[in-house]
Amino acid sequence: MTEIEWWEYDDVAEMADAIAGDVQFVIESALDARGSAVLALAGGKTPEPVYAKLARAKLDWKKVTIIPGDDRIVALGDPLSNVTMLGRAFIPTGARVIPLVSEKAADYRAAGRAADARLKDLHWPLDLVLLGMGGDGHTASIFPGPDLDEALSGPRERRALGVMPDPLPSDAPVPRVTLSRASIVSARAITIAITGADKRQVLERAIDQGPSSAYPIGRVLAEAELPVDVHWAP
Ligand code: 6PG
Repeated sequence: MTEIEWWEYDDVAEMADAIAGDVQFVIESALDARGSAVLALAGGKTPEPVYAKLARAKLDWKKVTIIPGDDRIVALGDPLSNVTMLGRAFIPTGARVIPLVSEKAADYRAAGRAADARLKDLHWPLDLVLLGMGGDGHTASIFPGPDLDEALSGPRERRALGVMPDPLPSDAPVPRVTLSRASIVSARAITIAITGADKRQVLERAIDQGPSSAYPIGRVLAEAELPVDVHWAP
């Protein structure tokens, strides 16, 4: 049973400050221990105040590499592009921000293979993965669909893969590239940031259901090798 530690806040601003402080500590520890840090950061809206706060931290950012935990297969600069959002937040710090998706690819599986090859050049395991969760219990871009089993149970050395959610999410109806479950659960630190009562209820249910959860995040967390921090605000 995965060890989950819940952290609750009065509002999103307080949660963002706390998560930014935690991530800063992870980065500083990685730099002390290994001289570099590699983080996978969530897309979506919830973590944006975290990134605004974290980017103001005084760190040796040139030794920090940031990748999206997942991305939509759209052109750089597209409003749906997670790496564009992360680049806007962190490139000014001097950090290296590496896209999973570098061009709009017709073949999502080929885009996943290209991302996997790119990630093979990075120090692994990740020092931290910051995850969000959708109301349907997806995390990163591990959704119900034809590629769910591959995302969950593909070869452990597979770091990223292309996926075609089914149904396509209405807010971003495009195929994606996502970190695999293996990449997420092998990270040295896993942090989840969610808001609202509905998502809390879904995540609690997913955790209780464990390896056979109807929710992708439940099946991901069931394989976590270390305790997971869940940060929640109303
Ligand atoms: C994405 C994200 C995704 C996100 C959830 C929650 O690309 O969509 O990586 O996994 O974390 O969809 O998004 P919100 O925080 O915007 O609700």
